[in-house]
Amino acid sequence: MAAIRPLFVVVGVGNAAGTGAAAARAFSKAGYSVALIARGQASLNALSEEIKSSGGEAAPFCIPSYAPGNFSSVFTSISSRFPTSQYSVRAALFNVGYAVWKPFLEVTPEEVQESLNTNVAAAFSFSRETIMKFKQNTIDAKNPTRGTLIFTGATASTRGNSMTSAFSIGKFGARALSQSLAKEFGKDDIHVAHTIIDGHIMTGDALARGTTSGLNPESIAQEVLLQSYLYLVNQEKSAWTWELDLRPAHEKW
Ligand SMILES: *[C@@H]1O[C@H](CO)[C@@H](O)[C@H](O)[C@H]1NC(C)=O
Repeated sequence: MAAIRPLFVVVGVGNAAGTGAAAARAFSKAGYSVALIARGQASLNALSEEIKSSGGEAAPFCIPSYAPGNFSSVFTSISSRFPTSQYSVRAALFNVGYAVWKPFLEVTPEEVQESLNTNVAAAFSFSRETIMKFKQNTIDAKNPTRGTLIFTGATASTRGNSMTSAFSIGKFGARALSQSLAKEFGKDDIHVAHTIIDGHIMTGDALARGTTSGLNPESIAQEVLLQSYLYLVNQEKSAWTWELDLRPAHEKW
């Protein structure tokens, strides 16, 4: 019987220079097949091709929107491409984020709604699909954890600030979800962890805001994620980390 390959599912790889893409490359390097989900078809396909050309196995899954129905249909497509007879989803990353940096009085009702939809409701839908997959997994000496679900958080997940009212409410919500799922599904040997990693990955957005204390995605981000995310995924069950807070030595925020 051929060995079942571990599959990593990541949503939010829109910016090929960001955290989601770096995590996909890192998990591929660690021997996982990767299912990439994003809204932008072009960058999604490019990342998938890049991973395949470096010897990994990847497939792109374009999602029209982060509405719940779209997550269930994308997971059906993932199951067809990566059938459970050959693959098992062992790790997943929710890397979607909607950031608004504005003074409170300038924030629109639409931006508040979008923050709740993208940062909270989409996290709910993705978690639901992922946990249903994890529950199908068997555990053994080699795979003592049924699966690991990781959320990409930010400083705004734990601390509100001027300019972050609409952003923080969403990020706090995702962190609350992560803690709740960690409690509810730990007994099923499902590990849920929240990571605070802003500043580590210099995405286009961070560069546009003039952030200069972060790390360069090309060289360091992949290594940071390789170490940190695989650390979470491979942890022994008696000592799971529920939150990881990674900060650059020279951060100014
Ligand atoms: C996916 O999202 C689009 C746009 O929001 C919506 O029109 C469509 O009905 C959704 N599909 C499913 C299967 O929910």
